[in-house]
Amino acid sequence: MVLKLSGKRRYPLVKESFSEKDTENFGEELGKNAVPGTVICLNGDLGAGKTAFSRGFARGLEIPEPVTSPTFVIMQAYSGGRLPLYHFDLYRLEDPDELYDIGYDEYFSGDGVCLVEWPERGEDLIPDDAIVINIQRDDGKGFDYRKIEVDCPDK
Ligand SMILES: Nc1ncnc2c1ncn2[C@@H]1O[C@H](COP(=O)(O)OP(=O)(O)OP(=O)(O)O)[C@@H](O)[C@H]1O
Ligand SMILES: [Mg+2]
Repeated sequence: MVLKLSGKRRYPLVKESFSEKDTENFGEELGKNAVPGTVICLNGDLGAGKTAFSRGFARGLEIPEPVTSPTFVIMQAYSGGRLPLYHFDLYRLEDPDELYDIGYDEYFSGDGVCLVEWPERGEDLIPDDAIVINIQRDDGKGFDYRKIEVDCPDK
């Protein structure tokens, strides 16, 4: 499995972030330890910090270019790092079947790492054994506070 998160719990399952930088750094730490064939779903509202996490994750994979979120691009591939990174943003997906058009399965079952923002839009095309990360605000804890929960499948 992935990121060695379930068995030995090398990472906290809950990370409290107090800034965008915290979230990037947490992503970077996971990116440094990512293994081939990992799919990570990133859940969270608009502006929660999914792309910030992804940016850090890419840095952890030593990808030389910055991760962005271009409008109307379902998937952006990044090479040149330790592993290929496929960054999905499914926000504008109108139908999960659009994923077939880009040959999504090759990425989800390949040897790279997939990060998926708005995975719920992909419905049942998202692999069951994906790692799930929830990024949530807590209004009582300030504007920049985010709770990041990591949930790994038991495999
Ligand atoms: N602790 C934090 N972690 C991450 N981002 C934070 C934090 N505190 C404030 N921010 C701000 O929240 C915003 C997060 O933006 P980001 O694009 O990463 O969100 P997103 O979840 O990808 O949104 P979208 O659903 O629109 O793609 C940025 O403006 C960032 O500066
Ligand atoms: Mg985003």
